[in-house]
Amino acid sequence: MASLRITVLSLLFLTASAASSPPPLMSAAAAGGVRGGGGGHAESFSKIYAFGDSYTDTGNTGSRTGPSGYSHVSNPPYGITYFHRPTNRYSDGRLLVDFLAAALSLPYLPPYLSLSSSSSSPHGVNFAVAGSTAIEHDFFVNHNFPLAQTPQSLATQLAWFNHFLNDTNDEKDEKDEGAALFWVGEIGANDYAYTSTTAAASSSVTSSTVQTLAVNRTLDFLEALLRKGATSVVVQGLPMLGCLPLTLYLAPDSDDRDSLGCVATMNRISRTHNARLLSGIRALRRAHPHADLAYADFYAAHRAVLATPAAYGIREPFRTCCGAGGGPYNFDAFATCGAPAAAKPCADPSQYVNWDGVHLTEGMNKVLAELFLRGGYMDPPFTRLISNAKVTL
Ligand SMILES: *[C@@H]1O[C@H](CO)[C@@H](O)[C@H](O)[C@H]1NC(C)=O
Ligand SMILES: *[C@@H]1O[C@H](CO)[C@@H](O)[C@H](O)[C@H]1NC(C)=O
Repeated sequence: MASLRITVLSLLFLTASAASSPPPLMSAAAAGGVRGGGGGHAESFSKIYAFGDSYTDTGNTGSRTGPSGYSHVSNPPYGITYFHRPTNRYSDGRLLVDFLAAALSLPYLPPYLSLSSSSSSPHGVNFAVAGSTAIEHDFFVNHNFPLAQTPQSLATQLAWFNHFLNDTNDEKDEKDEGAALFWVGEIGANDYAYTSTTAAASSSVTSSTVQTLAVNRTLDFLEALLRKGATSVVVQGLPMLGCLPLTLYLAPDSDDRDSLGCVATMNRISRTHNARLLSGIRALRRAHPHADLAYADFYAAHRAVLATPAAYGIREPFRTCCGAGGGPYNFDAFATCGAPAAAKPCADPSQYVNWDGVHLTEGMNKVLAELFLRGGYMDPPFTRLISNAKVTL
């Protein structure tokens, strides 16, 4: 029971913390990037379609429907910093995608499952699902990985998007169309979590097979978006999975550490995944030269903050803000954030990178938004996407 519970905890991946929104990203538009034609949404993007897992999910999954390892996301103190109530975001406040919306002067994205009718949401939709995988759910079922409890994969999110587009197109006023930004948040962390450590002990599926499939499914998903006509797409790679408090807690073997003190084998998985993803992205760029397909280097941005946290106003790179047990990680798999023994978070979440052992604080999400949108951690830079923004979909 205990070991199952711990392995279940290694399921999901995502985090957040900060106080004020960055100013709107107007500079590119002001410099001549305003879309022509006049009228309507003159500045850059008028809508965002987001995909991913718990790092991007703004409410598609709650405690009853989400990954079992973090079963308290609908309880306080989730949401305490910004919304002042749980919103089923895996953080104390806003996620990266919330800061993205604010930077584009757009409202926070509604979760797809919260849309009351099939009618359109004019400024975009969030299709991300906590616990979601890149590889289709059947793969985990067929190979007996019991940790994979979330049935929604990238394929599900694509199906939801197709339904949404069909419904929207039925009611569409062509003149009201604006440029759409596709934000593909981190995806793939759960594929590794469900198949690693204890979960994989009795399986013949290797991590290299998982990697091949996870990268393949992510690239096929991107290609599907491009074929549907997406012209502005941002893809986040994996973060330093070996630096999450949960990973450090599950791998106490001090031989398996890198220069930051993180779990070396897990960080190596993140790096090889990202390298293969990036190589596929380059091929997609060649095949779709009229689209901007940007890579947001989550690993490098994460590393920059963990290596010199003080430069980003952060004090605690590895300790969990909302956890229990003290010690170097303040993480206890049997008392995760929102459980009675972990109901009181740290005094200042913005001083922490990590919120609940896996997911980031709002403060960290805000820092990441800055690094991606203006800090040189996206290629091509976000300002290029803004100035190229085309009317689409
Ligand atoms: C969307 O509409 C097209 C054309 O009517 C149809 O072929 C397709 O099956 C529909 N897709 C979904 C997901 O409803
Ligand atoms: C992914 O795998 C499928 C099935 O083997 C293949 O048809 C497809 O081309 C692959 N996609 C990429 C991007 O390699």
